[in-house]
Amino acid sequence: MKPSIMQGARILATGSAVPDNCISNQTISNIVDTSNEWIVTRTGIKERRVLIGHDKSLIDLAAIAAMRALDKSSMDPLQIDLIILATSSPNDLFGSASQLQDKIGAINAVAFDLTAACSGFVLALVTATQFIQNGSYTNILVVGADVLSKWTDWSDRSTCILFGDGAGAAILQACPSNENGILGFQLDTNGSQAKQLSIAYEEENQELLKDSELPIVQGSFKYITMNGKEVYKFAVSEVPTSILKCLDLLSLSSQDVDWLLLHQANERILHAVADRLSISSSKLISNLSKYGNTSAASIPLALDEALQKGIIKVDDIIVISGFGAGLTWGTVVIQWKC
Ligand code: ACO
Repeated sequence: MKPSIMQGARILATGSAVPDNCISNQTISNIVDTSNEWIVTRTGIKERRVLIGHDKSLIDLAAIAAMRALDKSSMDPLQIDLIILATSSPNDLFGSASQLQDKIGAINAVAFDLTAACSGFVLALVTATQFIQNGSYTNILVVGADVLSKWTDWSDRSTCILFGDGAGAAILQACPSNENGILGFQLDTNGSQAKQLSIAYEEENQELLKDSELPIVQGSFKYITMNGKEVYKFAVSEVPTSILKCLDLLSLSSQDVDWLLLHQANERILHAVADRLSISSSKLISNLSKYGNTSAASIPLALDEALQKGIIKVDDIIVISGFGAGLTWGTVVIQWKC
């Protein structure tokens, strides 16, 4: 969608954080029946970072990423008007964004969570952009953070090889309309396929409660389940379509794209999408080999690393696409302005 805007929005700075513990494919092959060769060939992942022990949580990672982004933009946390925390692995089901607000001392900010799995950062970026472009807020902190290691079945070789923990942050700031850097977006959802990838709530103790006066059935969330083949097919067919729709809306074409930044799920998906768009794989931003699939963190983590490497130049067009559970997927096209 290409909205009419009252003021522009641009990404001022980014930051990221990953846990210290690095888990290699070799280590995973000691736990389940797999091999480094299988994982690298099928996914491109070589290692991932995982929170171990009780010392750190999602909010610690999110706070480090946020403070790094704030430092780079020389901004005080008190200047932040809104915090959107995209996560599917919160510390608290009522929401964790307020814990992040407290931890970084952003006491003037409204804070809320946004749940959309691996599309979470794209949806949060688009949501934040609306608040800026319609004139409501000036400075917004968008964080994508997940600790899917907490929800991974470490005896399931089809999923435990894929995921890692991490956090990435971006500071969005209002700017004059003619300097707008968030050019447009395209978002989609197909709830009929939700079962392909989920962390489902399951009821328990039914026998225990059925004779009580208040037969409320309770349960808990279980592990990640995924139909990898179906998610793979969905990603390589829907993501290029989403990108083309978004580019078309902006009167841009694949040739105008300087960087393609996709959710870091599988190296084969990244290359298949680039191929379908006739975009050279040299324009793909990828750090999947080091971190695996970090869900909502993957896009801001990869963006932050690319910026640190200095490969993104002013006015470059970056196509960002997220996809995952829901099923949800979406594209946002940005022009780098800082
Ligand atoms: N090691 C060794 N063998 C394995 C492993 C493993 N870790 N996992 C599966 N296998 C076996 C299977 O049992 C199967 O054996 P069989 O042929 O004897 O039955 C064989 O390898 C092939 O399995 P497939 O599932 O067909 O493997 P595929 O090539 O599809 O790769 C993968 C699996 C990597 C999961 C791929 O399907 C994929 O990347 N899917 C997309 C996942 C994704 O993008 N998720 C993004 C969203 S995440 C989110 O939203 C939170």
